[in-house]
Amino acid sequence: MTVDVSINISGLTFKNPIIVASGSRTASANHILKCFENGAAGAVTKTITYDVMQQVQPKPRMHVVNPEDALRGRFYSLYSIELMSEHSPEKWVKEIREIKVAVKRNGGILIASIAGRNFEEWEKLAQLVEDAGADMIEINLSCPHIEEGTLMGRAASSSLNVVSQVVRIVKNAASLPVIGKLTPHGANPINLAKTMFSSGADAVVSTARFQGLIIDVGSMKPILWGSYGGYGGPWQLPISLGWTAHIARENVGKPIIGSGGISGWEDIVRFLLVGASAVQICTAIIIGGYSIIPKMVKGVMEWMAAKGFQRINEFIGLSLKNIMPLENLERRRIYAVSVDLDKCTGCGVCEIVCPYEAISLDERNKAVIGLECDNCGLCASICPFRALSLKVRAS
Ligand SMILES: Cc1cc2nc3c(=O)[nH]c(=O)nc-3n(C[C@H](O)[C@H](O)[C@H](O)COP(=O)(O)O)c2cc1C
Repeated sequence: MTVDVSINISGLTFKNPIIVASGSRTASANHILKCFENGAAGAVTKTITYDVMQQVQPKPRMHVVNPEDALRGRFYSLYSIELMSEHSPEKWVKEIREIKVAVKRNGGILIASIAGRNFEEWEKLAQLVEDAGADMIEINLSCPHIEEGTLMGRAASSSLNVVSQVVRIVKNAASLPVIGKLTPHGANPINLAKTMFSSGADAVVSTARFQGLIIDVGSMKPILWGSYGGYGGPWQLPISLGWTAHIARENVGKPIIGSGGISGWEDIVRFLLVGASAVQICTAIIIGGYSIIPKMVKGVMEWMAAKGFQRINEFIGLSLKNIMPLENLERRRIYAVSVDLDKCTGCGVCEIVCPYEAISLDERNKAVIGLECDNCGLCASICPFRALSLKVRAS
């Protein structure tokens, strides 16, 4: 079956739903061209700003939590304090022109991420990147490192009024489609998205990273660079997915670009199923390299073929109807926990975790489930040998 993975956002055709998010892999024209060569449909420049403090990177600035798991494709976190682009806006004008010349050959939508410290800078940057030839503008109201005293990053998102003004100024300054990037940090992304859309944004990215802190108990100081850092990675996926579903349910009628924690093609499908039209990926491409992009495209295409979908639009938002309202959740004890005696090794993990103290080990060293079992599912979920499962009781 032929599968078409192209999507349309604000009149622009993306050849697939993968956009490389603003970050280390989009730090220059050279980086962005590699994104396109590896099959990304779009790429967002590292955030362009006039703030020279943002243009000089702290050293060191990257720390992988659980590095073995990162290399094996399991849960990890990238803790980092990479600031905005090291290149001046003037240098980016040249880089954007260079990319646009090359893109004529490879295809690829170029999105310029900008951040102004005041309304005048927002306006100036929007005009600058449009004149340079960018296809879209992304407004960075999400950077976790910006705490206060300026009109950019997550600091600006603490005021819906400021968010609205920034979107309006950028929309008035340029004729390009504008994407607003949502922070999940201390803000309600649904309200942010609604404010951005009602102020003229053409799409939103849901969502960026959190700020975090890691303390070394030996030195009793923050690790490495000695301060807070952005905290993201695959663990963040359920949070970003949840916000994306909530925003999609508001029927905003404009595209949502899902982001936050994507590590494989399955995560891309998950975002599309809860209403995203495309995705942005940063951390997974920093850790796995550009070559994971074609693997992700292939994974999405194979899944579509297996499910009988020919176009992405056929399944965008399909899972929203399967998300049950909390008041409808099952509250009766309809399950019996069943123990597969061949698989049970008597390790005792289930006995330890059971909050109802319903599990014991018998004389054969096998798990036995008592009447106190409340069907919470914890034992089945944690059993290292998959010996426990929830089965609906015969009535
Ligand atoms: C090292 C690093 C640098 C980043 N730099 C930027 C940036 O300059 N501008 C921006 O808007 N987002 C930046 N981000 C945030 C990403 O674009 C993205 O929103 C976030 O990491 C969530 O996506 P992910 O889970 O796929 O990484 C950066 C993220 C990382 C990890």
